[in-house]
Amino acid sequence: SESPEERPIRQRLLVVANRLPVSAVRKGEDSWSLEISAGGLVSALLGVKEFEARWIGWAGVNVPDEGGKKTLTEALAEKRCIPVFLDEETVHQYYNGYCNNILWPLFHYLGLPQEDRLATTRSFQSQFAAYKKANQMFADVVLEHYEEGDVVWCHDYHLMFLPKCLKDYNSGMKVGWFLHTPFPSSEIHRTLPSRSELLRAVLSADLVGFHTYDYARHFVSACTRILGLEGTPDGVEDQGRVTRVAAFPIGIDSGRFIRALEIPEVQENIRELKARFAGRKVMLGVDRLDMIKGIPQKILAFEKFLEENPDWRDKVVLLQIAVPTRTDVPEYQKLTSQVHEIVGRINGRFGTLTAVPIHHLDRSLDFHGLCALYAITDVALVTSLRDGMNLVSYEYVACQDSKKGVLILSEFAGAAQSLGAGAILVNPWNITEVAAAIGQALKMPPEEREKRHRHNFLHVTTHTAQQWAEFFVSELNDTVIEAQQRIRK
Ligand code: G6P
Repeated sequence: SESPEERPIRQRLLVVANRLPVSAVRKGEDSWSLEISAGGLVSALLGVKEFEARWIGWAGVNVPDEGGKKTLTEALAEKRCIPVFLDEETVHQYYNGYCNNILWPLFHYLGLPQEDRLATTRSFQSQFAAYKKANQMFADVVLEHYEEGDVVWCHDYHLMFLPKCLKDYNSGMKVGWFLHTPFPSSEIHRTLPSRSELLRAVLSADLVGFHTYDYARHFVSACTRILGLEGTPDGVEDQGRVTRVAAFPIGIDSGRFIRALEIPEVQENIRELKARFAGRKVMLGVDRLDMIKGIPQKILAFEKFLEENPDWRDKVVLLQIAVPTRTDVPEYQKLTSQVHEIVGRINGRFGTLTAVPIHHLDRSLDFHGLCALYAITDVALVTSLRDGMNLVSYEYVACQDSKKGVLILSEFAGAAQSLGAGAILVNPWNITEVAAAIGQALKMPPEEREKRHRHNFLHVTTHTAQQWAEFFVSELNDTVIEAQQRIRK
C-alpha cells in the first residue's frame, strides 16, 4: 500500500445542499439519532467517496437551544457533516414556502401557485426574502469552514442564491452549482416574479451543471431571453465573463446495491418475499409521496389494467412504497388523502377475502429491505410526471441482474435519456398507454427482458455517482484555470 507521502493529496470538497445525507431526530436532552435522508440527491451523494469531502446543510430539525446545537454538531461531525441551523419561521418561509410551494412545482411544469395555493404578493415577497436570508446563512457556514483551494459545490433549487453570496465575499473561490430537478422551458421560468435575480445569482458560479442537455439548453435560453445575455457553445457570457454550463448525468453507487444482495439477511428477506407473493407477479413503485411522481395516475393505470384483464386479477400485485415528504406543505397533505382514497376504492373493487391488488405503504424501507424488494420485483413502475433524473429506476436495474425484470419508465424523467433503450417508455398522463405497457411488461418473453436489462445494467454500472462527481469537479477546476489564463492574457 502507498505510504502517506506517496498518496496523492485529495481534493478538498465542501458539498453544500439544503438536506444533509443524514437527518437528525432528537432522542433526549443530549442524544440524537441520525437517519439516512430520503431523495435522489442523497442517494447519489452517498456514492461520492473519493474526495476529502465535508457536507454542509440543514439536519431537518429545529434546534432552539445552545446545548442542542452543540451536541448535534458533535454527532454530525462524526459523519463529516456540518449543520446549518434554521429557525422555525425561516424553515416555514424558505423551505415549505419558496422552495417547495413555488420553485419545486414551477421547475416540474406544475406552474406557480393558483387558487388555494395562491401566494399573495406579500407572502411571495416575504418568502423570497426568507429564501435569500437562508442562502446567506448557508454561505456564512461555508465561509467558516472554507480553506483556500477548496472546491465549493452547491446543490439544487434551494441554493440558487448561494453562488452569489460566496462570490460576493471571495471572487477567487471555486464555486459550482448543480440542479437536481429539471430546469424548465424558459417560457415557464419567465413567469417567476424573481426570474432575473435568481438567474443572475446562479451565473455567479464558475460552472453550472444539469442532468440532461435539454435542461442546460433551457437554462441558457432563459439567460439569453430574460437577461439579454449572450449564449456561447460553452455557456453564458456577461461582459467578457463566461459561466460554463453543461450536462453531467448523475448515477448511483451500483456496487453498494449489488453487494447488498449477497448479504445473508437480505437473501433471507428475498426468500420470505418470494414465498409471500408466490404465484403472483410483483409490480413495484417506490416514490416520495410527491405530486411530480404521478402516483395517482400510476394507480389508475393499474386499475385500468385489472379492469381490462380479468384473468390477471389474482395473478398480480402492486406494491407502492410512498415515502412521506414535506408534510407541512398543504399540497402534499392533499395528495396523501387522494392516494389513500384511490387505493381504498380499487382494493374494495378488486380485492378478495384473502388478497388485495394494491399494498400501499406510507413509509420508507431500510436499505436492505429495499434491495430485497427490488430483487423480487417483476415490473417496476416509474411514472413521474416530471423528474430531474429519477434514481429509483437506476437502483431497480442494479438489483435485477438475476431476475431481469422490466422497467416501465416515464419519458418525462431525465433517466429516460439513459435507460430509454432498455425500458418501456410511457407518457404517464396517458392512463390507457400505461395500462397497455403493464400488459406488455408482464407478458414479455425472457429473451427480450434479458436484452433490455443488459443495456440498462451496463449503463447503471458504468455511470456511477463517483464518476459523476469526479467529472464535475475536474471540469470546475479546469474552468477556473482557463478563466484565470484568459484574464492574464
Ligand atoms: C429531491 C430534491 C432534493 C431533496 C429531495 C428530498 O430529490 O432534488 O434536493 O433533498 O427531493 O426532499 P426533501 O424536501 O425532503 O429534502
